[in-house]
Amino acid sequence: VLGNFNVYFNRKAGEPPLEQGWIPLIGKTYGFIQDPLKFLRARQEKYGDIFTVYIAGRYITFVMDPFLYINVIRYRKQIDFQQFADDIASKTFGYPAINEDKFPSLNERIHKSYKYLQGETLENLTETLRNNLQWIFKRELPEVRDWRNEEMYHFCCRLMFEANFLTLYGKNCAIGGHKQMTEIRSMFEKFDKMFPYLVARIPIQLLGSTRSIREKLINYFLPKNMAVWKESSEIVQARKQLLEQYEVLMEKDKAAHHFAFLWASVGNTLPATFWALYYLVMHPEALAAVHDEIDHVLRSTGQEIDPDYIIHLTREKLDGLIYLGSAINESFRLCSASMNIRVAQEDFTLKFEETKAISLRKGDWVAFYPQSLHLDPEVYENPEVYKFDRFVEDGKEKTAFYKNGKKLRDYLMPFGSGVSKCPGRFFAVNEIKQFLILLIKYYDMEILPGERQVGLDSSRAGLGILLPNSPVHFRYKLRT
Ligand code: HEM
Repeated sequence: VLGNFNVYFNRKAGEPPLEQGWIPLIGKTYGFIQDPLKFLRARQEKYGDIFTVYIAGRYITFVMDPFLYINVIRYRKQIDFQQFADDIASKTFGYPAINEDKFPSLNERIHKSYKYLQGETLENLTETLRNNLQWIFKRELPEVRDWRNEEMYHFCCRLMFEANFLTLYGKNCAIGGHKQMTEIRSMFEKFDKMFPYLVARIPIQLLGSTRSIREKLINYFLPKNMAVWKESSEIVQARKQLLEQYEVLMEKDKAAHHFAFLWASVGNTLPATFWALYYLVMHPEALAAVHDEIDHVLRSTGQEIDPDYIIHLTREKLDGLIYLGSAINESFRLCSASMNIRVAQEDFTLKFEETKAISLRKGDWVAFYPQSLHLDPEVYENPEVYKFDRFVEDGKEKTAFYKNGKKLRDYLMPFGSGVSKCPGRFFAVNEIKQFLILLIKYYDMEILPGERQVGLDSSRAGLGILLPNSPVHFRYKLRT
């Protein structure tokens, strides 16, 4: 307790107002995790746009004004993302921290390999994903001529997990390949439920069978097991070759890196796909408008409905689906709650403007919570309402959003910011679009009567796209 008092009374000039509670190590943790957005908005009201809160043994300085985000992002040397991310990821996924002395340049080279998620390679990923989705739809949804009921989140996971996995890691053509995929997905779902606890640094030993589940998942990615998957993507091949060059990494460490990449590629994509589909099915006018747009592009490319789910849209055509893109963005806006965190590497003064600056101490965290921007009524009118065409203006993607009459540089941030921005963002939107196009074009879909409206499960607030807080059943059948 005395330690806390000392910090409190020794607050230096220029440091933001501090709220710390009286319980050592815990501080304001409880209030924050109960409802981060409400908690932060109440502090913003009290202290203004920049304040520090003592949460779970850390001093976290929150920057709430979106116009100030860019200033934090620019201090790349003094406020680092990598060390923080590596610390959490290595413990969560079970590989040794990427220490520069032990693994020289590994971090930098991993980041360079992300180029395989963009540009020309994204064209290949788009095509492979298209083929995989067709194959999975044919196998999993054959001849659904009568209404079939299913829980919607489960439906999205069972189709999208496999499509994503096959596209990135390749196909196991051996007998039992599909059974193995179902096993991996089921393990993954169990691990994913425990993900927030692992990120919160709860020791894995205290989380029941999570340790053995993680071990099993990692084992799938041991070189001898990966060798049976054929036609893996360029990004996975590049990561394999790169990890092979570090002899200090044990086989299971390399496998744990591959497993971490699997989580990155589906952990947010699955809930994001669910929300995009859920909102469209809940809003028939939105579904009809998006359907029209898809029909239009199919007609313009001379394509007719094909019984084998063959729809061929290039990346450029997919990017041009403005209404579908807007509907996806709108579901990101409503359901993403990631926290962008950086760590001060030294004591220094962070300057925002000529007259605005704060002092930070080495080890302090600096954070944004973009959900407060996404739900800000000054930026988005009636922010609680789903408006599928919110991101369309004059038939083009709308990119001009304002606060206090000033245009915002960052107005939608489901993929993080600056150096830590998600390298898979283009592929993610691309795959959600392809999945929705097939569903919308081939199926009638309805939420089952009597289903209650689904809300957000805030247990992973701060970590990305939130999950639904209850199951929701819908029905689908092939269009006649
Ligand atoms: C809707 C889907 C997705 C969302 C919302 C999302 C969101 C994010 C966010 C917020 C981060 C930054 C984390 C931070 O700042 O701490 C991130 C990082 C990352 N994402 Fe995504 N992501 C998605 C899909 C994907 C996909 C499909 C891939 C790969 C195929 C991917 C690969 C990665 C990787 C590798 C990182 C770590 C980057 C680094 O090492 O700095 N993500 N993602």
